[in-house]
Formats: sequence, C-alpha cells, structure tokens
Amino acid sequence: MQPVTFVNGQPCALPTPAGASATLLHVLRNDLALNGPKYGCGLGQCGACTVLVDGVAARACVIPAQGVAGREVTTLEGLPARCGHVDALHPVQQAFVEEQAAQCGYCLNGMVMMAVALLERNPDPDEAAIRRELSSNLCRCGTHIEIIRAVLRAALLMREAKA
Ligand code: FES
Repeated sequence: MQPVTFVNGQPCALPTPAGASATLLHVLRNDLALNGPKYGCGLGQCGACTVLVDGVAARACVIPAQGVAGREVTTLEGLPARCGHVDALHPVQQAFVEEQAAQCGYCLNGMVMMAVALLERNPDPDEAAIRRELSSNLCRCGTHIEIIRAVLRAALLMREAKA
C-alpha cells in the first residue's frame, strides 16, 4: 500500500498508475486546484512552481507526483496554517504585502516559498544570505529590492511573534 501523502495538512490521493508520470505541479494545480504554485519554465529553472516538501523548498514542475509519496507537501495556500494563523496571512505573505514586493506577481509564489524555507532554517538572515537563497528564482520585473526588504521584514515579524 502506498504511504499517505499530506498536502497542506490533508491526506491526499496521488495519481493512479495510469497517471503516474504526472508532475507534482500538475497534480497540485489540475487535480487539487491549488494554484499558488505557478507554471513558468517547466524545467526547474525559474522557481515559480516552488513548494515545500518536508519543509525543504522544491520545484514541483520537475518532481513526479509519485515522488512525494509519504511526504508532507506545503503550497502557498497552506502557509497560514503552517504557522498557526488560520485566518491571517503567514508573516512572509504579510511582509510581501506591506513592502509591495510584486509587480506582475508571477515569481511571487516562488519568492515567498523560498523565504519561508530560509526563515525556518535561519530566523535572522542578513541581506547577503537572502540574496544567496533567492538567487536562483527569476523575477523579470526587477522587484528584487522590495523582495529583499520583505524578507527582512518577515524575519523581524517572525522573531517578534516568538518573543
Ligand atoms: Fe518550475 Fe520554472 S516552472 S522551475
């Protein structure tokens, strides 16, 4: 029997063998209607599709859905519950809103998910650490300065919430 996969805390059926070649991104968007992760390059290069798999940032467009059997997947939609905020935004989402860190918004999912993964590992990153973490996520609008400010603000919000 296949181990249970959880998506945003809910047990989830993975594709049957007939659909076993489907990517995780396909299943999330097309079968589970979780449209936070975006389809950008489809090649694992832009980061628009980023999700967390067991808390680690991963590119859902190049992961077979079957590859997350028994794992815990978190999408943008699952972030508030991840930090116990049922009716509010996750602090990283809140900080991106407050810093107006988006233009077209296509990269936003990946930037937010990468920031969450970073801040869960390192609650007080400096700007260089944030730049390194986000360097493989593409933003074509040039919103990088606001995005870095948002991650710094999110780190502060998360540290204040724990104090
Ligand atoms: Fe997955 Fe670009 S869509 S990395």
